[in-house]
Amino acid sequence: MTDYSGILAEIYDEVQSHLRSGKVADYIPELAAVDPGQFAMALVDLEGGVHSCGLAHQGFSIQSISKTFTLTLALKDQGAHLWDRVGREPSGSSFNSLLHLEYEEGKPRNPFINAGALVGTDCLLAGKTPAIDRVLQTLRRLSGNEKIEINPRVANSEQECGFRNAALANFLKGCGRLDHSVDTVLSTYFQQCAIEMSAVDLARASFFLANQGVPLGESETFVSANRAKYINAVMLTCGTYDSVGDFAYRVGLPGKSGVGGGIIAVLPGQFSVCVWAPGLDAAGNSLAGVMALEKLTTITGHSIF
Ligand code: DON
Repeated sequence: MTDYSGILAEIYDEVQSHLRSGKVADYIPELAAVDPGQFAMALVDLEGGVHSCGLAHQGFSIQSISKTFTLTLALKDQGAHLWDRVGREPSGSSFNSLLHLEYEEGKPRNPFINAGALVGTDCLLAGKTPAIDRVLQTLRRLSGNEKIEINPRVANSEQECGFRNAALANFLKGCGRLDHSVDTVLSTYFQQCAIEMSAVDLARASFFLANQGVPLGESETFVSANRAKYINAVMLTCGTYDSVGDFAYRVGLPGKSGVGGGIIAVLPGQFSVCVWAPGLDAAGNSLAGVMALEKLTTITGHSIF
């Protein structure tokens, strides 16, 4: 049996001197105040054992990690029709880029860049339950933590400064790609990004992607094993923006990052993991977080490759 707890303790020590090399996201003013010296990692093995180090129970802003769960819900609602509205190819550009949208007639490259996530949120708004309530309920159920909430200060902060997202949403609407109003889509999107969860919460919530679609502590599938495969494939190819190649090379796992400094990753059939270190690299991924995941797969020899 792999000694995951011992390995996480080793990783904790090794990343300490790198925590302040990254730069916290400052385009969302509320996130600029976060101390970059913090670190947490949590791993759930296939037997449901939770291994962790650092500030593993401290909540942080999940930001774009929410896109994995909104993609999951949009696929549950729309099935393969979702791919008529959003692609599943890497964008090769930054997460908030407007570049491809004009010459691709408003069809975003994938569901993990901001434009694609706005389309995903628009899909969820068609449901009976208010979209943001459904996202929260899903995250609470999958993580087993009923206390998960939105941080309204972060949501407002992004609402006030989300000029690029507003440009993306307006462009999508202009191309007839959104069914709901720009304001509704944006405010729902900002709220989903402002949800706060801990590394333990997120490792537990991602477990179904490592376990053929069956959530932690449950016996029925949340999504089919095949759909879990599809979601993992999109994480592998699009989950870390224009450094997706570097992430696959170094870490060798499907993963999804957020500018709050969190990254989730899974090794199907083995574990789900979440790392949090708020300092980011130039692409917007947690600098020490990627390093920690690289160490995990290097020390254990466990990756998808
Ligand atoms: O839309 C934004 O800019 C943020 N709410 C989320 C961006 C994000 O997390 C991208 N991740 N690397």
